[in-house]
Amino acid sequence: MDPVLLDIQNLDVSFVKPEKSAHALRGMDLTIESGEIHALVGESGSGKTVTSMGIMGLIPMPPGRINAGRIVFKGTDLTGLSQAKMRKIRGRQIGMVFQEPARYFNPSLKIGEQIVEMLMLHLGLDKKKAIDQALSFLDVAGMVRSRRVLNSYPHELSGGMKQRAMIAMAICCHPALLIADEPTTALDVTLQRQILQLIRDLKKQFDMGILFISHNLGIVREIADRISVIYAGRIVESAPLNAFFDHTRHPYTRALLRSIPSAKKRGQRLQAISGQVPDAENIPPGCSFHPRCRQAETVCRREMPPTISYGNGHQAACHMIDAHE
Ligand SMILES: Nc1ncnc2c1ncn2[C@@H]1O[C@H](COP(=O)(O)OP(=O)(O)O)[C@@H](O)[C@H]1O
Ligand SMILES: [Mg+2]
Repeated sequence: MDPVLLDIQNLDVSFVKPEKSAHALRGMDLTIESGEIHALVGESGSGKTVTSMGIMGLIPMPPGRINAGRIVFKGTDLTGLSQAKMRKIRGRQIGMVFQEPARYFNPSLKIGEQIVEMLMLHLGLDKKKAIDQALSFLDVAGMVRSRRVLNSYPHELSGGMKQRAMIAMAICCHPALLIADEPTTALDVTLQRQILQLIRDLKKQFDMGILFISHNLGIVREIADRISVIYAGRIVESAPLNAFFDHTRHPYTRALLRSIPSAKKRGQRLQAISGQVPDAENIPPGCSFHPRCRQAETVCRREMPPTISYGNGHQAACHMIDAHE
């Protein structure tokens, strides 16, 4: 079987409005294999959520527009599918966990009703079997008193419990791919650790491919098998976990690493990255990182850097890499 579960090629997405357009993804490439946690990391506004919405077929069109590219899932290009076909894949083949459970659950239906409805719809289970399966997945998600949770409304659960309920719902149909978009950002540190452990366990138990989205490299370091860094809608560096941290190549990745507490060496100060992520309505020409890059030279202001492979699955897009290696 082809280990590549999801293959995003050259995805280009913009949001077009009469007054202005935002170029959210500009030739995005990403692959995810079964049984792998691939982390997508970048500052706020870099295109992470648009990527996940693209995979789920949930980019609002208009104003959204897919200008180019393919999202190949198990051999089928999702960008060409009808909404009806996408509905069969969403939830069944691809599960999704969001940062904000509140936006995901219907506030007027009990948690159980929502999970059971999904199991009946996607797997054709009768109600009794669906309830049993919902309970077992609430258990898998580490929920205590699952039966009570089943009979609760979303607002009756704490933040951590809601997150676990959403994970249970995302995985209850055994999806091949799980997308988790900043799943721990709203949680305190203890809960964050528990949810990360749960996601690691789920990967092992169900051999899922997982796209783990975060703006926090410290968290990603604890969970990812491979890391890709997105900047202004393009991947600037991608590598397996160890190579990523031991042989970091891109100046932006290096700057991100200097800005996380766990990368701090004794006596070394934590550094914020100067400047801001470019606005998707106003992306600098050439390498979009050049206004913030200490190594930038004329070519960086003029030409978009090609993505170069350095072997062992390590790629980066920077004109100056050989110059400063
Ligand atoms: N519905 C929309 N209409 C217009 N612009 C959008 C829309 N959704 C996202 N964008 C723009 O796309 C860019 C990437 O957004 P997003 O993927 O949400 O970033 P993040 O990496 O923080 O998840 C941002 O500049 C954002 O303003
Ligand atoms: Mg986001």
